[in-house]
Amino acid sequence: MKVTPWEAEGEIDYKRLIKEFGTQVIDERLKERIKKACGELHFMLRREFFFSHRDLDKALQERERGESVFLYTGRGPSRGMHIGHLAPLIFTKWLQEKLGLKLFIEITDDEKFLVKRERNWREVQEAADENILDIVAIGFDPNKTFIFKDSEYIKNVYPLLLKTARKITHSTVKAVFGFTDSTNIGLSFFPAYQIIPTFFEKGRAIIPCAIDQDPYWRVQRDIAEGLGYKKAAAIHSKFIPPLQGPKGKMSSSRAESAIYLDDEPAAVRKKIMKYAFSGGRATIEEHRKLGGVPEIDVSFQWLKILFEPDDRKLAEVEEEYRSGRMLTGELKEILVEKINKFLEEHRRKRDERKKEMMMYKGALAREMWERVYE
Ligand code: TYM
Repeated sequence: MKVTPWEAEGEIDYKRLIKEFGTQVIDERLKERIKKACGELHFMLRREFFFSHRDLDKALQERERGESVFLYTGRGPSRGMHIGHLAPLIFTKWLQEKLGLKLFIEITDDEKFLVKRERNWREVQEAADENILDIVAIGFDPNKTFIFKDSEYIKNVYPLLLKTARKITHSTVKAVFGFTDSTNIGLSFFPAYQIIPTFFEKGRAIIPCAIDQDPYWRVQRDIAEGLGYKKAAAIHSKFIPPLQGPKGKMSSSRAESAIYLDDEPAAVRKKIMKYAFSGGRATIEEHRKLGGVPEIDVSFQWLKILFEPDDRKLAEVEEEYRSGRMLTGELKEILVEKINKFLEEHRRKRDERKKEMMMYKGALAREMWERVYE
């Protein structure tokens, strides 16, 4: 197993990650606290897709006391934005809606340029602008959300960035991110930029993301208080598995592992039918007799994580499949229909909001372009 912000390989043991990264499991008590604060539990929490955290209990307590907390998340722009990238954003939208919090969304065009040597600057910019539209389509509160590209916002934050970078040594980034002597110097500087949005306010940042981004928060938590800020809180999800099975993560660098937001209905059907790893049996007779295994079936897992929010309907599918009454092909049909409906709706909202590009114009955005961080 290998999990870094840029790679996830092998069978991912999430319990081991909690131990290795030094995070905490989201237990029943914390779920109760979230439920109290939000009025309900999102299905991604009920089904333990969001499974780990840092100081989320503390952040919720602070909010209860009327102290300031805010949300922060981000995206490393690439042409292939896939459904895995949407999961943390959908959850973030829910948190913003329920808690009424400000939200910063960082678009790390610099990071992507530094990591993917074969891409030129213009391509990264085009991808960033496209990705921003997909993010806007999620429907965040336009007056409480600020989406910014690193290369554009740099003039507002360069002194803060330097103040942060001065606190981070080579030996830290080598140990935390596995950088080596051949890593380019841009990339060893970059972690400072992913950390500074946690300093945009004096209150505590709550960061929803998949667990791969946690190394940044480890560094943030080491230096924040020394700079007069709070240690960030985080809420971590698992990965949406790739179509081919439970190992690794859906990734834009492996085209056949993912469903992209611009995949046409026929392409979605073809990919699911051809690649989606099945928990079904070798023959129909065997399947009817022994039943399917939803735990390893990618179509079922995708329904559980993202595409079937209704617990009762999900339980029905699970029961039908496990009993052998439902065949893999039928389960896949359900998923194809759900995904295509979801993508159609997503693209409709994307076109609708394209005209407004509201995120750049809302109250928080206007205020942020005025601020200069020392
Ligand atoms: P990026 O663009 O690689 O990923 C964006 C978000 O999606 C999560 N993610 C996934 N979640 C579920 N299943 C998957 N298969 C999957 N693949 C990726 C990532 O954890 C992330 O939350 N450096 C960051 C950009 C960034 C950021 C942040 C992310 C800047 N600041 C703060 C989260 C929070 C990046 O390249 O993410």
